[in-house]
Amino acid sequence: MRHSEKISPAIAYIRETFAPEDVSLKAAAQAAQALSMPIHIGAEEGKLLQLLIRLHGGKRYIELGTLTGYSALWIARALPEGGELITIERNPQQYAEAQRIIGVSDVAHKVRLLQGDGLAVLEKLASEGPFDGIFIDADKLNYANYLDWAERNVRQGGLILGDNTLLWGGVYLDPAPEGVSRAAQQSMQAFNATLADSARYHSILIPTQEGLTAAIKLFKGD
Ligand code: DHB
Ligand code: MG
Repeated sequence: MRHSEKISPAIAYIRETFAPEDVSLKAAAQAAQALSMPIHIGAEEGKLLQLLIRLHGGKRYIELGTLTGYSALWIARALPEGGELITIERNPQQYAEAQRIIGVSDVAHKVRLLQGDGLAVLEKLASEGPFDGIFIDADKLNYANYLDWAERNVRQGGLILGDNTLLWGGVYLDPAPEGVSRAAQQSMQAFNATLADSARYHSILIPTQEGLTAAIKLFKGD
């Protein structure tokens, strides 16, 4: 998929003013670049995730798609003492880089890093739930499946977040742009449509460059 590294002067100003990166964040961004991977979120989105989590006030969150730990560092730093982020990465090389980077960071004690297939690891984690929230930033084909798990294992009042939910235009362009599969398009449209149901969620797709859907789960269900 495509990722735009170009940022506007406005975003550059926001990053400089509100979301400076420390050595750990810089190391995570560099490690992702060295593996030819996008860093998944920008610094301003990292700060937005922190704000959402602080407003929400929970203690235990899950992240799907650690990459090299960039977003995990932002999220973990928003957690109170005693809080925990469980972050899941399938790729062994990215997992190793994340271990190294998070391990020497100030939030090493707040992050549990698990390696494996997202859905398989989630199934094992279900017995530890319900969780306060989840940040989904993994393979776009499985967003609808991850949400299915979240509906059962995130508490009532919990926070469900998904990155890249505009799918590079794939959720509203037909046919989908090059590089976006029909299956990914359908999965992401289903993800957003489910979360847009105001009887079950209080939600919005925040118009970041790539789209960040944020939803509070209103129903009990599990
Ligand atoms: C890609 C994936 C992401 O989660 C993201 O935020 C940006 C790009 C990608 O697959 O290219
Ligand atoms: Mg992403």
